[in-house]
Amino acid sequence: MNGYETFLKTDLMDFGAGDLGLIWESDPIKRKAVAKKILPAFSTKSLKAMEPIMHEYMDLFVTKMKQFGGKPDGLLMNDWVLWLATDMSADLAYNLEMQQMRDGKPSDLVTTLCGTSFVAMLMQLSKKLPLIALATPFFIPFKVLRKVPATLKTNSAQVKRRIDSRGKTRHPDFMDYMIHADGPPPSSKTDLIHMEQVALQLFIAGFDPVQIVLYASMFFLVKYPSTCATLTKEIRESFQIYEEMKPDSLGRLKYLNAFISEVFRVHLTVGTGMPRISPGATVDGVYVPTGVVCQVSSFTAMRSERYFRDPLEFHPARWLPQDHSLYDIKYADDNLKAFYPFGVGPRMCTGREIAWSQIRLFLGKVLWSFDLEAVSGHEKSFNRDFRVFVMWERPELYVRFLPARG
Ligand code: HEM
Repeated sequence: MNGYETFLKTDLMDFGAGDLGLIWESDPIKRKAVAKKILPAFSTKSLKAMEPIMHEYMDLFVTKMKQFGGKPDGLLMNDWVLWLATDMSADLAYNLEMQQMRDGKPSDLVTTLCGTSFVAMLMQLSKKLPLIALATPFFIPFKVLRKVPATLKTNSAQVKRRIDSRGKTRHPDFMDYMIHADGPPPSSKTDLIHMEQVALQLFIAGFDPVQIVLYASMFFLVKYPSTCATLTKEIRESFQIYEEMKPDSLGRLKYLNAFISEVFRVHLTVGTGMPRISPGATVDGVYVPTGVVCQVSSFTAMRSERYFRDPLEFHPARWLPQDHSLYDIKYADDNLKAFYPFGVGPRMCTGREIAWSQIRLFLGKVLWSFDLEAVSGHEKSFNRDFRVFVMWERPELYVRFLPARG
């Protein structure tokens, strides 16, 4: 079939909801139909229209750090970057204002979504090893089980609210591409369920990897003070005033881009791989028979000496161009093509531009405004102390935010 994927997604994320939305849809015809509606939401024009919302949330984060971040025991980054990423993603997905940063506490929706990570891993595993399915109920805390239907109900209610407020929303969002301002509401239960599924997926896809990268950025910044000093200097010397920092202008900073790439490489976001079913094809000279499930372990690739020198170490310099003063010839033989944090091929991340914008804005605004001070958690080791189920489990990281001294 021309124009359709050939290596199809597996049913890894099919937990029986009845509709696989966009991201988890494995049927190429159905997926193409959804993508046709949603993908324009990720165009440059649409992202420009959403940029003010990103600034709003980043500025609120900076304000909160000014208010509370200076105390000697610092602030727990695990919470604050999660609240930042989820507040922003919910608003961009369906104009939902969760106000976790404003209120300084998590919403039930986010708490439950994060709590179900281990459950989701068990459900994925049980597709490969059916015996695990029998044991799964014994591993799921009752507290979590009880909240799952409530979470889905909250999502349905928010989608209904969004449908009812079409044409009257505070700003553009991804749902604009599912329901038009002056269009009719969904005509059937099936259409409604589909819309709920897509909204939830865009919300989750829009926050989880982003909060991982924001946490990891803070972790490496306070762990490696000289890297932090280099990046801070680049940012402060590149702008006259705070308001000049935009995704485009920040995008020109070479060390910032190198730092973010190294964060992506060392602390991978997708820990579980991205399996595909072979249609019967030759890949890199090896024939993969029809029906064989194959996947590349990007985690292994990013940590392999075959592609990167000192792979377990953190060195943004490996990403710098030759004409940069901090370019290091030591990394000249790194194979940067092995790096694909957003996947490859027709199902690669459609949100990569928005993700880069958010991460650049975060680092630019934070390092412009504050001198960071490590409090605790930074002494942990990524290789020893981090674990991944479906979502990552990371050490508690406390950071102090002191006013920038220049
Ligand atoms: C650090 C940030 C991000 C990373 C590392 C990331 C990574 C990925 C990866 C690896 C995939 C492919 C999954 C697969 O093949 O199974 C993917 C898909 C996707 N991502 Fe992202 N993502 C990020 C941020 C975002 C954001 C902010 C959005 C906005 C909503 C987003 C929306 C999507 C969508 C819609 C897909 C599915 C594309 C499709 O199936 O057609 N992502 N992402």
